[in-house]
Amino acid sequence: MGKAIHDLVQEHEKIIRVLEIIKKVQENDKISEEALLKFYLELADFIEIYADKCHHGKEEHNLYHTLAPLSGETGKEMIIKLLDEHVQARNLTKLIRSAALVGNISEATSAAAKYRNLLIDHITRENEEMFPTIEKRITLEQEEVIHGHFLAVEKRTLGEGGVARIDGIIKGWETDLLS
Ligand SMILES: [Fe+2]
Ligand SMILES: [Fe+2]
Repeated sequence: MGKAIHDLVQEHEKIIRVLEIIKKVQENDKISEEALLKFYLELADFIEIYADKCHHGKEEHNLYHTLAPLSGETGKEMIIKLLDEHVQARNLTKLIRSAALVGNISEATSAAAKYRNLLIDHITRENEEMFPTIEKRITLEQEEVIHGHFLAVEKRTLGEGGVARIDGIIKGWETDLLS
């Protein structure tokens, strides 16, 4: 696996860890309404900054286009579907935030569950179909160049020390809500 795809696969693992937290939080009836609303607002921030601006940003601006000229109609269809899912994810994130801001827990819960289902399917397809297709068609040197662009996206969207901050937020949810 080249550097660029490895980077995205690692981000997928982090996002999947958060999808698992969503499931466990929703199954836990001991969490107060106040803590739940706080979680959904923090979750909307995490998705917006990390999963969307950083991770989807890397895919949309630096990766998906490498597939288009290389794999014909199938590749184009795959990209259109993946981009559409990024849009659906953005809409669900807005819904999580707006529901949590007005204290509507059931709507925030429903939007977060939909987001979780959407992303599980999306990430599985990227890992199992899209990434192998790309890796068959570009060289490790090309991936190295793409990885350089990824680092720039990361710096722009997360800032200095951004990854450590994100890790701290995830750990905080696991400690405060689920232990
Ligand atoms: Fe994606
Ligand atoms: Fe992805």
